[in-house]
Amino acid sequence: MPTDDGPILGLHHITLVTSSEQLNRKFYTEILGLRRVKLSVNQDDVFHRHLFYADDPSKGNAITFFEWPDLPRGLIGLGSPHHLSYEVPSVDVLIQWKAWLSGNGVPSSGFYPRDGRVSLYLRDPDGVIIEIAARDTEKLSTDYLSGTNLPEVKQVSNGMKLSRFDHASPITRDPAATRRFVDKALGLRTSFTRVNPDDKESSTTGIGNYAHPDFLRYLSSPKTHSGYVGTGNIHHIAMAVEGDEEQLKVLRNLDRIGLRNSGIVDRFWFHSLYFRDPDGNLLEVATKNPGYAADEPLESVGSSLVLPPWLEERRPEIQKALNEEDRTNPLRWPPRSYPKVPDPPEMLSVEVA
Ligand SMILES: [Fe+2]
Ligand SMILES: [Fe+2]
Repeated sequence: MPTDDGPILGLHHITLVTSSEQLNRKFYTEILGLRRVKLSVNQDDVFHRHLFYADDPSKGNAITFFEWPDLPRGLIGLGSPHHLSYEVPSVDVLIQWKAWLSGNGVPSSGFYPRDGRVSLYLRDPDGVIIEIAARDTEKLSTDYLSGTNLPEVKQVSNGMKLSRFDHASPITRDPAATRRFVDKALGLRTSFTRVNPDDKESSTTGIGNYAHPDFLRYLSSPKTHSGYVGTGNIHHIAMAVEGDEEQLKVLRNLDRIGLRNSGIVDRFWFHSLYFRDPDGNLLEVATKNPGYAADEPLESVGSSLVLPPWLEERRPEIQKALNEEDRTNPLRWPPRSYPKVPDPPEMLSVEVA
């Protein structure tokens, strides 16, 4: 089997939009069991927070959020990806997740056995669709998955940790155009295009490298409408490269094919390169280093507001604006009405809850 993967290693982080830092922190740390690994501000909009969560700050796969309380709810569609997915080791763990979510008042879907894995879906309080997928389907049986006898789960155990993304699902109108784009721009390969079992009029296209052939699973339909990014939506999807040298290779290639891009942007914890796919989905290529421990000890990353050096002199005015935002945006947990999980979960038209 060929193993000559290009510079793109897989997913680095996925960035979304939340209406409330407090609500977001409660959900991602206390319910999903992640650790906040960075508390900072949006470097392009410095009076709003940028929150980072991960299971392990020394590794990639962070889920990050811009806090924009005044932004309306977003709409899933072209340019506004559908969902993201975490990988867990087994169906047993998936069942533990269902029990844990239910015990915390978070609705989740039934179990969806398909495509060599079993998936459970939920939404965060802002409406983001989150899939938890198990590839080990050894114990798969209808009885086992009926979920009528859920175990008692008192905490997110080590075995349940959401440490790795399985995939992210943007939307495309034209999978052939996406296929050409990822090949020419990023050196990624398309591993399959098949009917989407949740929506027979649409298809799923797996894109990735040899190590992880479908870390992007584009959903597509010629009838797809345009989306817009707002609270409860994915803002952009970042892929990882090893370091600056590999990132430069990607940049040179984007320039060579004439694809408009941001150039290299120093985000302090990593270096970023932004561009859009043919459907307007915002993508990023980010370096693995320097990492979240570049400016604070690994043990205490995320515990207090950190700013990149070039923003440090503005700390008083930034802190004042954030305090004011908290005053007018108090914690609302549990949410007044919890967003409903779509059924089936990967159909393209999703109602705004
Ligand atoms: Fe999925
Ligand atoms: Fe990013």
